[in-house]
Amino acid sequence: MSKSSPKSTLYYGDYLNLPALLSAQEPESARHGRGAHDEMLFIIVHQTYELWFKQILHELDRIQADFGGEVVEDEYLGRIVHGLERINEILKLLIQQLEVLETMTPLDFLDFRDFLFPASGFQSAQFRLIEIRLGLGRGTRAEYAGKSFHATLSDADRARIAAAEACAKLVDQLDRWLSRTPFVHRPDYDFSREYRNAVQSMLEDDAARVRANLAMSPAQREAEARGIEASLAEFQAIFAPASDPSPWQMSRAAVQAALFIIVYRDRPVLQLPFRLLAALMNVDELLTLWRYRHALMVQRMIGVKIGTGGSAGHDYLRETAGKHRIFSDLFRLSTYLIPRSRLPKLPREVEDAMGYRYTAQPSGR
Ligand code: HEM
Repeated sequence: MSKSSPKSTLYYGDYLNLPALLSAQEPESARHGRGAHDEMLFIIVHQTYELWFKQILHELDRIQADFGGEVVEDEYLGRIVHGLERINEILKLLIQQLEVLETMTPLDFLDFRDFLFPASGFQSAQFRLIEIRLGLGRGTRAEYAGKSFHATLSDADRARIAAAEACAKLVDQLDRWLSRTPFVHRPDYDFSREYRNAVQSMLEDDAARVRANLAMSPAQREAEARGIEASLAEFQAIFAPASDPSPWQMSRAAVQAALFIIVYRDRPVLQLPFRLLAALMNVDELLTLWRYRHALMVQRMIGVKIGTGGSAGHDYLRETAGKHRIFSDLFRLSTYLIPRSRLPKLPREVEDAMGYRYTAQPSGR
């Protein structure tokens, strides 16, 4: 029965549109009369990637709609984190999936590789949409044989990419949300001042301890102590006034709020914001792992040959793995952490503002 008939019961194959899905594999090798067994695997692996890319974009639709408002409702924050965690599970699968493709040996690949020119994963519009919507900007991209990937796309794909480039990026939405974090700056409390004082006293104690260490020569002690004092200058990257040139991609307000969330994350009210930051770092890390893993597979498959898209294959891909990072500021923050025992104590008013304690009402009242 067809699903178009009003009285029909839903049929599995119709619901999933299997006739279209399962007839969408058309090996080029067969078309050229030189049927290569492994091309079916090659097509199916790529198609499943594209299906998962579609799901990732679907998750990003809701995440970005929830995250883009002037206020992010509490109930939305939970599902934003949940959506990011789902994307991360998919990315893990995508890394693992390369192993299935690698059951095709380089010699098997050569049976049909020449038929694929000049098509390449480089033209995956959905992959570009994911990168762009997360926040990878044009200016940060590695060069591909001297040209942008845009030039290799069809007009329809280029239009989709241009539309995404004109929309809000997750990295900017994160910045705006972090910058609005309450508790960080209040009339009676300034987190950055308190944190800077804590860092300074910790580093001064460390330097004094080194200077008192008689196991080192006087020259060694002085050099070590000076090194510790110099790291205070490094910490200024967080605390410098907003007017100073910034080494961060995010605004200073966002960086300070992210640090606040990370160091005080044990407070229940900061748990979900902390999980959000951790999930974004995982997205970045898993995408980077995929890039390295794909580059290694490419090296194994084609050595140092030019890719079907025309780039210096392996070298280009390795460069993207190092360069195409999106949430690298969140990783950099680890440089600025101090042990819990040295963290400035939060004033009572901030604790009260952040805390939620429930007092059970005696029954009958
Ligand atoms: C035999 C397997 C594969 C080989 C030899 C291969 C090779 C390459 C090469 C050489 C490039 C650089 C562009 C070029 O010159 O074409 C590239 C880019 C790319 N490939 Fe693959 N690839 C393979 C499998 C896959 C699979 C399964 C996917 C999944 C969708 C994929 C997705 C991509 C993407 C998204 C890029 C662009 C990466 C970027 O610009 O950052 N590739 N591939």
